[in-house]
Amino acid sequence: MEKTFIMVKPDGVQRNLIGDIVQRFEKKGFKLVAAKLMQISPDLAEEHYGEHKDKPFFGELTGFITSGPVFAMVWEGENVIATARKMMGATNPAESDIGTVRGDFGLTVGKNVIHGSDSPESAEREIGLFFNEEDLLAYNKDQ
Ligand code: CMP
Repeated sequence: MEKTFIMVKPDGVQRNLIGDIVQRFEKKGFKLVAAKLMQISPDLAEEHYGEHKDKPFFGELTGFITSGPVFAMVWEGENVIATARKMMGATNPAESDIGTVRGDFGLTVGKNVIHGSDSPESAEREIGLFFNEEDLLAYNKDQ
């Protein structure tokens, strides 16, 4: 079954949005298979956002993501990578549809509440950066 990495960013945690965001994914029908509240180290931030290291906002991006606790999760389900991206909305909250996480809660592209993997390759890489294999739990087939 497909898995994706989803993270409530420091602004979302600080604004008490963890519960709302988790509920959206639960109600959609996805299964939470791993989760932890954690502080991202500068090394992990640089690795996680490695593809952006030449962008002018890289320092702002890594500074922000390490600025406070994040809630890191792995969600599982049919087509979860693409569907979660739709549920999150466009990266820039000014362009995200109302009804999406960023459309409902975000204001700026830097503090946009949530991160989610954008492809199967990113999902595998990001899950591996944040979780060990034994952290990923399994449900009974009929649950
Ligand atoms: P995310 O999905 O976490 O992946 C990369 C992040 O870079 C993105 O969300 C945005 O929060 C951030 N980002 C993109 N463009 C900018 C920008 N111009 N300034 C600051 N952050 C940005």
